Amino acid sequence: MTSAPVQEGVIDLLVASMTWEQKLAQLQIAFRPRLEDAADLVRSGIGAVFWPRSAASTNELQRIAREETPHGIPLLVGLDVVHGQRTTFPVPLAQAASFDPATAETDARVSAHEAASGGVNWTFSPMIDVSRDPRWGRVVEGFGEDAYVNAVFGASKVRGYQGESLRDRDSILACAKHFVAYGQAEGGRDYNTVDVSMQRLRNVYLEPFKATVDAGVATVMAAFNTVSGRPAHANHLLLTSILKGEFGFNGVVVGDADGVVNLLDHGIAEDLPDALLQSFAAGLDVEMGGNVLSDDGRLRLSPGDVPLERVDDAVRRVLNLKLALGLFDDPYREADHEVTTPSPASRRATLMAAEKGLVLLKNESVLPLGPAPKRVLLVGPYAESTDHLGAWIQSFAEPTGSLADAIGEECPEWSLTVREGTGFFGGQSGHIADAVADAADFDAVVVAVGEPSALTGEASSRSDLRLPGAQEELIRAVAATGAAVAIVMFNGRPLVTSGWIGAVPAILEAWHSGLEGPRAVARALSGAVNPGGRLPMTFPRSSSQVPIYYDHENTGRPATVSGSLDGAAVDVALMGPGNTDDHYTSKYKDLDLGPQFPFGHGLSYTSFEYGDLSLTHSRITMEDLRAGQSIEVTIDVTNTGPCKGDEVTMLFIRDLVASLAQPVRRLRGFTRSSLQPGETITLSFELGWNDLGFWDNEGLYIVEPGAFEIHVGGGLDDTRVFNLHLRP
Ligand code: BGC
Repeated sequence: MTSAPVQEGVIDLLVASMTWEQKLAQLQIAFRPRLEDAADLVRSGIGAVFWPRSAASTNELQRIAREETPHGIPLLVGLDVVHGQRTTFPVPLAQAASFDPATAETDARVSAHEAASGGVNWTFSPMIDVSRDPRWGRVVEGFGEDAYVNAVFGASKVRGYQGESLRDRDSILACAKHFVAYGQAEGGRDYNTVDVSMQRLRNVYLEPFKATVDAGVATVMAAFNTVSGRPAHANHLLLTSILKGEFGFNGVVVGDADGVVNLLDHGIAEDLPDALLQSFAAGLDVEMGGNVLSDDGRLRLSPGDVPLERVDDAVRRVLNLKLALGLFDDPYREADHEVTTPSPASRRATLMAAEKGLVLLKNESVLPLGPAPKRVLLVGPYAESTDHLGAWIQSFAEPTGSLADAIGEECPEWSLTVREGTGFFGGQSGHIADAVADAADFDAVVVAVGEPSALTGEASSRSDLRLPGAQEELIRAVAATGAAVAIVMFNGRPLVTSGWIGAVPAILEAWHSGLEGPRAVARALSGAVNPGGRLPMTFPRSSSQVPIYYDHENTGRPATVSGSLDGAAVDVALMGPGNTDDHYTSKYKDLDLGPQFPFGHGLSYTSFEYGDLSLTHSRITMEDLRAGQSIEVTIDVTNTGPCKGDEVTMLFIRDLVASLAQPVRRLRGFTRSSLQPGETITLSFELGWNDLGFWDNEGLYIVEPGAFEIHVGGGLDDTRVFNLHLRP
C-alpha cells in the first residue's frame, strides 16, 4: 500500500480544504442501505458504502460521489467476500485443513477478480481470530486454533486480495479481523466477554495480526468484544499503541457493524456522541453502521470533541487508500465485463481447494471404494442437500449440486441408491429403519451427515457439538446392519463423534467445501483423490471438554494414561483413549484423557515414513541467534505406500524450562508435499530468534537460554525429536 509523495501532497491539500462535516462523512460506512438511501448518503458525502450488488449500481454511486459532491471524492465499496464472490471456495477452516497456504491465496485472487469486476474495492476478510472453542460458530470463518497457521494463511489471503499493487484492476483492499481476541469469547458464546493476559494476547491472538500488517494489509476491523474490560472499539492500547504504534500499521481501522453503538450496551458510553468520541480517540478511523450522522443528517460530533489532528489523520488514512486503489483516476467498472458466473478455471481452482481440505479421520480398510462397478447406498440429510457453500455464502454465488449428483458424475460405474433416512433435525426413527433395512445387501454404504451451515458462523454458537437431530441414530442403525460403512461429515466446526465413532470403520471430514465440495468428496470416495488434509482444530470427545487445544500449558499436575511412559509428565492431549486413577491430576474423571482427534490429525490412502532429523546446530548462543543466525532443520520423508499422496510435515518446538509456563508444543513450520509411491524428498525448516522466544506479561518479547525440543513429523503423535541448547 504505497502512494507517490506527490500524491500524498494532493491528499494534504484536499484535507486542508474539507469542512468538519465533510471530513466526518468520510469516516463512516453505511451498513447495507437500500439503493435510494445509499444515493442520498453519497450525496451527503459519505465515504464508503456496502456493495449495491452490481457494477452498474456501483458506477452510479461512484458517479454521484465524483460529480455531485464538492470534492468529488470516490467511494470505498465494501463487502464480506470471505471465501468467494461467484465461485465459492471451501470455508476458511477447510482451507486451513489443506495446510497449503497457496489454497487461501488462490481463493483470495479469484475472489478479488470476481468482486472487483462488479465494483467492490474492499473486502472484510481475512478473519484471523485464533479459535480454540468449537462452540463458537465463527470458528468456521478463520484458520483454526493455531496462531502460526492463522498468521501464515492470513498473510496469504492478504497477498491474494491485494495483489502486487492496489492499483491493479483486480486488486481489492483486505481487512484483517477481528482485532482482537474475539475467539476467546467466554463459553464460546458469540460477542461474549474476553479477559486475557498480556502474554496470551501477544503470543496467541496478536501474532496473526502482526503477520498481516507485515504483509501490507490495508485495513483492520475492531472486534465486538471487550478485552480485559475495555471494548476493542474504544481501546487506545490496542488500536493506537499496539496496532498503529508498535506494528506500524498505516492503513484504516474500521469498526464492526454497529460496534460503536454497542459501547452503550457494554456500559462504556453514555450516548452515541460519547461512544463515537471514545472510539475515534482510541484510534478507530471508520465507523461501520452510519452513526456519525444522525437520522436528520446532523453530525453527532462537534469540532473540539475529538482533536482535529486525530480526525485529519483518520481522513488522510481513508483518502490514501482511495488514492492507492486508483479511484481518483477511475472509480468505474465496465458493467459489461462484470463476472457473474464462475469460469472453468475458477471451478478447477475451487475443486482443487476442496480436495486439499478433505481430512480422512478414520479408515479401517473401507475407503477408497474404487471406481469399479458396485452397488452403493447413499443415506443421510447431506445425500441430496445442496447446502455446501457454508457460512458467509453470498446470495448471488453460483449454486452447487448435491453429493448424489456428484457421485453420479464422478463414479459412473457405480449403481447408486439414494435415501435421506433422516433430516437434519427431529426424530424420524421409522424412516431410519426403512432406509437402512437392506443396507447389508449393498457393497458399501455412504452416510452423509453434518450440521447445516445456518448453524455455523456469526451468532451461531452451539452448546452441544454432536450431529443435530437423529443423525447419530441413523449412523448407529446403518452400522448395526454390518454393512461396510463410510461416514462423510459436512460441517463448519469440530464435532463430537463419541456416540458412534466406535461403530464405524471410516470417516471422511468434508467440511462445507464450496462450489465443488460434493465433487471433491465423490472423487475421494472413489479414490481418484487421496485425502491429505489435517485438522486445524482439535476434535473433542465431549462438548464439556472444550476449550481443548494442542498448545496448552502442561499444568503442575498433568494427567497421563495409567501405566504409560512410566508416569512421565507427557502431553495429555497426545495420549490415546484411557484415563488415570492418579487422583490429583488435571482431568475429567468421567472422560478418557485427550481429544478424540488432535490438531494435525489426518490419514491417507498411502503411508509415509520419516528419516532421521538433523539440525545444523545442536547448540547456539543467544548472541548468534540475536544477530540473525538461524538453525536449519532437515528431514527426509518417503511415500512407502501403494499410491500417490500428500503428506503434511509439521515442526513443533517445546521450550523445556522458561520463566513463564510454556505450551507443550508450539507449531513453527509446516509444509505439504505430494509424493509418488517410493519417492523420498528432503524437507528443511529454519528456526530463528522469532521462533524460540515468547512475549511476557509486560509486553516484551524475550528469548531465554536453555534446552528446547524440536519435534518434526506428520503430526503431534508422530515426530522425530532433537534437543537444541540455547547458550547464554
Ligand atoms: C461481522 C463482521 C462483518 C460485518 C459486515 C459483522 O456483523 O462481525 O465480520 O465484516 O458484519 O458485514
